[in-house]
Amino acid sequence: MSNRIQIFDTTLRDGEQVPGCQLSTDEKIVVARKLEELGVDVIEAGFPISSPGDFLSVVELSKAVNVGVCALTRSKKEDIDVAAEALHHAKRGRIHTGIGSSDVHIKTKFNSTREKVLEQAVWATGYAKAKGYEVEFFAEDAGRADLAFLAKLVESVIAAGADVVNIPDTTGYCLPHLYGKRIAYLFEHVKNIHKATISVHCHNDLGLATANTIAGLMNGARQAEVTINGIGERAGNTSLEEVAMIIQTHKDLEMTTGINSKKLYELSTLVSEMMRMPVQPNKAIVGANAFAHSSGIHQDGFLKNSENYEIINPADVGVPSSSIILTARSGRAALKHRLELLGYQPSKPELDQLYDHFLIVADEKKNVVDDDLITLVANTPLLVQK
Ligand code: KIV
Ligand code: ZN
Repeated sequence: MSNRIQIFDTTLRDGEQVPGCQLSTDEKIVVARKLEELGVDVIEAGFPISSPGDFLSVVELSKAVNVGVCALTRSKKEDIDVAAEALHHAKRGRIHTGIGSSDVHIKTKFNSTREKVLEQAVWATGYAKAKGYEVEFFAEDAGRADLAFLAKLVESVIAAGADVVNIPDTTGYCLPHLYGKRIAYLFEHVKNIHKATISVHCHNDLGLATANTIAGLMNGARQAEVTINGIGERAGNTSLEEVAMIIQTHKDLEMTTGINSKKLYELSTLVSEMMRMPVQPNKAIVGANAFAHSSGIHQDGFLKNSENYEIINPADVGVPSSSIILTARSGRAALKHRLELLGYQPSKPELDQLYDHFLIVADEKKNVVDDDLITLVANTPLLVQK
C-alpha cells in the first residue's frame, strides 16, 4: 500500500455550509486556485442540485483548476444527473454520492431498512459510475453504524464500482482508537477493499476530528477529507493544516502528502478573511499565538534554543517568525531581545533599570508593544541608543 495520503479539501462544500460563510463563485475560484497551489489532490466544489449558485461553482471550478473536482449528491437520480452535468469541464471529475449507514439515520431520517439502503447505495454507485467520472461513496454516520452492516455496504459499493469509499464520523462521536479500529475492521472483513481507496471524514464535535483522522490513516485509510482552518458544520471538520503538519512532523508515520506547507498560513488567512470567520488565537499551526511565547521561563528557553519550545519552524508553514510577547510574566531575556530588535543594546544596569519600569507598565497593560518600549527607553536616561 502506498503511503502517499490524498488530501481531499472540502472547504468549499462542507466548510462553506457554515452559516454566514457562503462565498460567491468568483471567491470560490480564488480559493480553489490557492488550494491547487497548496497541493491538494481533490477539491470538493459544491452540491450542485442544492442551488443554482452551487451548480455554477462546480462548473466554474471545473474549468479553473487541473486537480480533481468533486460534486456532492444524495443517492438520487436527479442529484447524480445534475452533478454529472456540472462536472462536464473537469479534468478529473468525481461524483461523491452516498446515504446514511447508521440505524438512527436509516430509521429516523429515511424511515427505511438496512436492506433498502444497501440496494439504493449500490444502485447510486453504479448509476454515478456509468456517467464516466470517478465515484466516491459516503456511508454517512459510519462512525455509529453497525460494523458488520458497514462492511457489507462497503463491499457492495466497491463491487458496484466505487473508486473511493468515505467512512465519515458525521457526528464527531468516535474516540480515536475506536475509529481506527473501525477502519482496521473494514480492511479485515471487506474482501475487495484493496480495489478502492478508503477515505476518512471526521467532524469535531468532541474536539477529536484530527486525532480520528490520523487514527484512520494509521489503520489503512489513504485519503483525508479536511478543510482550511477546520471550518465546517457545528464544531467543524478536520483541519487541513493540522493533518498536513502531523504527517510532516512525525516522519515515524512514514506517510507523505503533496502539500507545500509553506503556503498554509497564507491560505488560512485568505479563507478566514473571505468567510469573515476569525481563526481562534490558540488554533494549532495557524492561530495568532501558535508561535508566540509569553511567559518568562518559555521566553528564556526559546531564546536559548527555539527547539526548547517549538516543534515546528514557523517558516515551514509560512509564518514570518515566532514572536516574543511582552507581559508582566516576561523576564529580562525577553525584554532585552525585544529592545535589541528595536536597535537598542542596553548594558546590564540599564536593563535592570528598564526592567523595573517595564514591570510597572506591564502590570497596567496586558501586552507591552514596541511604542511602549520606545517611551520606556526615552524615559530611561542611562540608555544609549546604538
Ligand atoms: O459529514 C458527512 O457525513 C458528510 C457527507 C456528506 C460526506 O459531510
Ligand atoms: Zn461532513
